[in-house]
Amino acid sequence: MIIKKTLQMAPPTCQILAILLILFFTSPSSVSCVQIQVNLSNDFTKDNLNSSCHSITGRDLGKRTMSPGTSFTWTTSEAWCCSLETDFDSERYGLFYMFNPKTDSTRCGKECRWSVRDDGIYLYIADAYDYVFQYKWGIWYCI
Ligand SMILES: *[C@@H]1O[C@H](CO)[C@@H](O)[C@H](O)[C@H]1NC(C)=O
Ligand SMILES: *[C@@H]1O[C@H](CO)[C@@H](O)[C@H](O)[C@H]1NC(C)=O
Repeated sequence: MIIKKTLQMAPPTCQILAILLILFFTSPSSVSCVQIQVNLSNDFTKDNLNSSCHSITGRDLGKRTMSPGTSFTWTTSEAWCCSLETDFDSERYGLFYMFNPKTDSTRCGKECRWSVRDDGIYLYIADAYDYVFQYKWGIWYCI
């Protein structure tokens, strides 16, 4: 929709807009400085979620046990990996990127909203107006 509208503008305006868009979205420095809020929600139907998150530079949020329906947030511009598992289930565990500047800066917007569910881990995608499945249980996506 936005693209269609810009194409209908007078050509000089459109070109300036395109240059600005290219500069904004492809310049690595502009992306890496942006502070993003990460929100992790336990959306299990009944189980507790144990989490332990660390950033690429060693920031550590410690171990947390979250009951169903609870969430917590933190703010960052660097990559984060979280170990997630249920209290007692042997199948729901793994290591997952909860923020990866390369892929998530644009698709998350200002907030990466993760929903941890019985069947996997979902991320809210603004363009889809919905949570979209991202990660399967039982896999170590990061270290
Ligand atoms: C995290 O996101 C959920 C879903 O939008 C929201 O209900 C919750 O309040 C948020 N948590 C925090 C701590 O902001
Ligand atoms: C989850 O955390 C609770 C509380 O710290 C602990 O008792 C339990 O053993 C943990 N479960 C797993 C699978 O690590």
